[in-house]
Amino acid sequence: MNKAVNQLVVDLELIRRLDKNGPRYTSYPTADRFNDTFTAESYRQWIEKRKAEGGAKPLSLYIHIPFCNTLCFYCACNKIITKDRSQSAEYVRYLIKEMEMQAALLGPGQVVEQLHFGGGTPTFMSDDEFRQIMAAIRRHFKLVEDGEYSIEIDPRKVSNETIELLGSEGLNRISVGVQDFDAEVQRAVNRIQSEEETLRIIHAARANGFKSVSIDLIYGLPKQTLQGFGATLDKIIAVDPDRLSIYNYAHMPTIFKPQRRIHEDDLPAPQTKLDILSMAVNKLTKAGYVYIGMDHFAKPEDELAVAQRQGRLHRNFQGYSTHSDCDLVALGVSAIGKIGPTYSQNYREVEEYYVALDKDELPIMRGLELNADDLVRREIIQALMCHFEISKKSFDTGFQIDFDSYFSTEMGELREYEQEGLLEITPERIGVTPKGRMLIRNICMAFDKYLRTRTEHARYSKVI
Ligand SMILES: C[S@@+](CC[C@H](N)C(=O)[O-])C[C@H]1O[C@@H](n2cnc3c(N)ncnc32)[C@H](O)[C@@H]1O
Ligand code: SF4
Repeated sequence: MNKAVNQLVVDLELIRRLDKNGPRYTSYPTADRFNDTFTAESYRQWIEKRKAEGGAKPLSLYIHIPFCNTLCFYCACNKIITKDRSQSAEYVRYLIKEMEMQAALLGPGQVVEQLHFGGGTPTFMSDDEFRQIMAAIRRHFKLVEDGEYSIEIDPRKVSNETIELLGSEGLNRISVGVQDFDAEVQRAVNRIQSEEETLRIIHAARANGFKSVSIDLIYGLPKQTLQGFGATLDKIIAVDPDRLSIYNYAHMPTIFKPQRRIHEDDLPAPQTKLDILSMAVNKLTKAGYVYIGMDHFAKPEDELAVAQRQGRLHRNFQGYSTHSDCDLVALGVSAIGKIGPTYSQNYREVEEYYVALDKDELPIMRGLELNADDLVRREIIQALMCHFEISKKSFDTGFQIDFDSYFSTEMGELREYEQEGLLEITPERIGVTPKGRMLIRNICMAFDKYLRTRTEHARYSKVI
């Protein structure tokens, strides 16, 4: 495996020119391809197949808590804004019912190697609700010593006692939403969050044995400036997080209605945005972070960076991971699971989710069974996202194809990227160059069959 896999060159001219709308490929095919011919019954059948094959594959468990106290105007996540705390009490009862149904279907003794609480805001729940969920997980699944157990934290209104509880219940990773410390930006996006409360959470996590702290920032937010975001980065680097996600703000007010409250005039100009990105990469590289891919940075000794160097990195709905071949069981509204060659997604509205569970039905709204072509393309996109290279030969053997003829259309497009200096193509391999890495999403899009048949790409956020 290429030792220099994390090398990165930010070529602003190239990025400006090749900027194209595109998906983030947390799954392939992307969720907009899921359909309702895949039902709870289809899911049940695939779980039966899993059992027939021995059912020994470890599991990844995703738990979606949709509630948030206040609305951040930029937010593209699936959430419900409420101050009514009783909503999560009811939700947790349904979530545990769903967990019981899933566990009964999967059979006893299932090992959970990965657990992730996402949202919305998981810390909207009371400590007692969190305890109930963890107790239910322990009743129905086996947690392991070296599991990757993580939670997304919004530091506003979280106490040190809650962090202590999360640690004592076995969670060992947190990701902390920050976005930007700049006061003007915080006002423009309706997310007022002090540095003090953010740092307090990070220190509390470290004091309570969390192995890894990750921080989420967003560039391209309204009122953001090079100087302001630079100051945020300096403060963040000073607290020494193990990982950082620097997301590109996806402004799509027609899809995400709260974004209409953002004044377009306040958004940084495209050139400023590129300058911010370039500065962020410089500062992080100087501070010793390596680029993992698609918005993510980590310390070189972090296990994501180690796994990438050793060719063991994977990508899933939560981003990058070192745990490979897990089946993913997803609980809660809108959550997406992955069992064998299938994806399944729960109802997106709590009412529908509750109605299904009240009828003792799994709340599956839609999904997809991947065909042979989807599977090979998924593997290619994974390899590009995680390792910036693919061995054509291994695809020839693994999928019984002749790569160059199977992907003759795609190779035509890739040759253009090769001429731009984004790729190196040989008869054996396709390698992404250091300056191609910031445009990895564009390169993956060449292999997305469904994009070819779609006339407009406008529904996806800008790559940069
Ligand atoms: C579910 S939130 C994290 C947990 C918690 N709700 C919080 O805000 O701290 C997931 C992350 O997605 C990112 N995010 C949300 N909306 C985004 C958007 N429109 N563009 C880019 N990143 C976005 C933010 O960085 C946010 O921290
Ligand atoms: S960014 Fe987090 S806290 Fe803000 S609305 Fe989205 S999910 Fe809720």
